[in-house]
Amino acid sequence: MSGTPEFVEPDKTLIPAPSRVVWNAAGYTSLDGETALEARPGTEGVARWLRATVGAATGLAFPDRPDRLNRIVLSIEPGLPPEGYRVVVDDRPFRIEGGSAAGVFWGAQTFRQLLGPDAFRRAPLRPDQDWDLPEVTVEDSPRFGWRGLLLDVARHFMPKEGVLRYLDLMAAHKLNVFHFHLTDDQGWRIEIERYPKLTETASWRARSKFGHRASPLWEEKPHGGYYTHDDIREIVAYAAERHITVVPEIDVPGHSQAAIAAYPELGNTDVIDTTALTVWDNWGISANVLAPTDSTLRFYEGVFEEVLELFPSQFIHVGGDECRKEQWADSVTAKTRIADLGLADEDELQSWFIGHFDAWLAARGRRLIGWDEILEGGLAEGAAVSSWRGYGGGIAAARAGHDVVMCPEQYVYLDHRQAPGEDEPVPIGFVRTLEDVYRFEPVPEGLTEDEARHVLGTQANVWTEVMEDTARVDYQTFPRLAAFAEVAWSRLPAPAERDFAGFEHRMTAHYARLDALGVAYRPPTGPRPWQKRPGVLGRPIEGPPPNR
Ligand code: ACM
Repeated sequence: MSGTPEFVEPDKTLIPAPSRVVWNAAGYTSLDGETALEARPGTEGVARWLRATVGAATGLAFPDRPDRLNRIVLSIEPGLPPEGYRVVVDDRPFRIEGGSAAGVFWGAQTFRQLLGPDAFRRAPLRPDQDWDLPEVTVEDSPRFGWRGLLLDVARHFMPKEGVLRYLDLMAAHKLNVFHFHLTDDQGWRIEIERYPKLTETASWRARSKFGHRASPLWEEKPHGGYYTHDDIREIVAYAAERHITVVPEIDVPGHSQAAIAAYPELGNTDVIDTTALTVWDNWGISANVLAPTDSTLRFYEGVFEEVLELFPSQFIHVGGDECRKEQWADSVTAKTRIADLGLADEDELQSWFIGHFDAWLAARGRRLIGWDEILEGGLAEGAAVSSWRGYGGGIAAARAGHDVVMCPEQYVYLDHRQAPGEDEPVPIGFVRTLEDVYRFEPVPEGLTEDEARHVLGTQANVWTEVMEDTARVDYQTFPRLAAFAEVAWSRLPAPAERDFAGFEHRMTAHYARLDALGVAYRPPTGPRPWQKRPGVLGRPIEGPPPNR
């Protein structure tokens, strides 16, 4: 090891903040070309990840030599919490222990952070680089079991490689649920073999609104794309290797114009000529919703059959948000259905629709989750709720004994602009800063302990109406996802007592990691010149965003 180590105190660099770090009297050690890796039973996947990722960054091969003292030992220790871990860098061998393979994996993430930002590169800067490690013991476990990120690939498609990259970025932040928003009015992104027009027709739109809904600008070129079954299998496997569960969302009965454009019989044909519909080219909430007919139910059972084959997750998201009901109010078919079922109104019709899939999924050993609108007209028996319009829906659901994921738009909708000023690129909505996200509390006051246990966790949502490429997604998502990850993982004090200055200090180390990862984050000083896209679209929009 050469020279003075450049590390600052390790507990002032780790993000998300761990529960406990003991640093042994400013001691340092190092990895070198001889450092081996021993994967004890159940940790083979973590060893694969370490060799592929940290191995590539450092140029170290980590040979499988359990006989060497100079080695890293990966092991599952049943005494630790399931996702908890202990990293011990002291006398050799170094140890990464977890309560499960997931715990070992999160420990490996911390180990990578301890190696410094260059451990986040794709390849070493120099062949003779030192890989110093502070001599620490880190003990840690997550606050929540659901630490999610929603990515909307419907409004703007993200090719498979971009999705895999986002799974890597999630793993680096110890996030473990990828909410894959696959369908919307503006595009259908998953191949369904029995319904080829969902990809032939519904996955492409002729043009796109550029900017928010009120913008006068259009991007006059087709936009689209979709994931084949093989793509999905690859994404799910890649996520699983990183201990991330992929929760697919097929949004029904609203947000379905793309599907109706492909299969007009899915729409309210007694109200409008659905054969004239196209995949929507604007943002907002479309009036075109699914018809509440048996044939629509059968169609979507067919969709979900293929979805269940591809996604092993316990939860399947069925959307349920922003379902406009004017067409149902005008539809004889819908009115007849309401009467036949003895329902009070269209809200109860939506509940019936969602309830059908709740029972259908339960019969197949899965659980339904939907946006908080599914509370209106009565919540289906086993349903869980993604609380997005504030805390209210989540509170009501938790009090009624339903599980909840807290994702209120007031805090964790990362499409909202993150600073005032005219040079934020294509801004949308109200300002939500890094500090606002850092001070987000997923468990609202007023819930009893029993009720609070229904808060499975939290997720940040990235809606992509104004994010036409991956660089824009990066800009909106980072650095705020780092603050969000700490909220989801670490046991932080009450919002007002959180040490945001300390977090910002640790962010200096984290920005270097994001640089090494090639993330086009929003710098603390504001957008870089190439990130600015001012002009008519650069004006802030005050108040709630008009374009969802
Ligand atoms: C949503 O933002 N419509 C869930």
